[in-house]
Amino acid sequence: MPSTLRDAWTSRVQVEDYEAHMAAIGQAQANAAHMAEFLARVGEPGARILIAGAGTGQMFDYLPPGAFDSHRGVFADINPRFLARLRRRNPGALCVADDLEASALTGPFHAAAVVLVLEHIQWRKGLDTLAALDPRYLFLVLQRNPEGMTTAVSPTRVLPASMQNLGGQHPELVDKNEAATHLQRLGYALIEEWPRNVPDSKVMLGLLFERVP
Ligand SMILES: C[S@@+](CC[C@H](N)C(=O)[O-])C[C@H]1O[C@@H](n2cnc3c(N)ncnc32)[C@H](O)[C@@H]1O
Repeated sequence: MPSTLRDAWTSRVQVEDYEAHMAAIGQAQANAAHMAEFLARVGEPGARILIAGAGTGQMFDYLPPGAFDSHRGVFADINPRFLARLRRRNPGALCVADDLEASALTGPFHAAAVVLVLEHIQWRKGLDTLAALDPRYLFLVLQRNPEGMTTAVSPTRVLPASMQNLGGQHPELVDKNEAATHLQRLGYALIEEWPRNVPDSKVMLGLLFERVP
């Protein structure tokens, strides 16, 4: 059976490799800044906030201490090893192994954030799952490449061993307009857009959606 991106994320990608790569390309830092902005914009005391595909919690290295303290954060990922790393960084964090393509979580959430995850899954299914959890706000961070760069990873970057040839498939970029159209059908309107430039002329594109009343 051919290996898949799912296999790679579930069992092959090593925590240290992933984190070293993300820090080297400046995306870990940029996305932590996105998360801080998201929390400042939509967070309210006691709000239940889902971070889907939370990974290893690398963002905590760059967020101000206690950034989630006044919220009820739920950190979900398909990879329990990643969540174990997250919990070591933030022992109080509520972590759940969960598949964004077929979630066992129960809504509602005040807000949900999905940072660089849709590129690695069947993204329409992921958005359907998120909408079913009924968050008022939905925050996506999508990768946008410079014109002409078709691969998610820059051709000039050498990936760490455990991330090479991710399951024989490349992650696929998700088009902002296609995501927004899909979410519109699910009852969400795009209300804000926050682009953050990162190395290799890429952009971490933050997109804030709100459920239409
Ligand atoms: C590129 S990483 C992003 C991690 C984190 N959001 C960050 O910004 O560092 C993709 C993450 O999605 C997770 N993932 C992949 N497929 C998933 C699925 N079907 N359900 C939930 N998480 C998934 C991976 O384990 C990994 O942590």
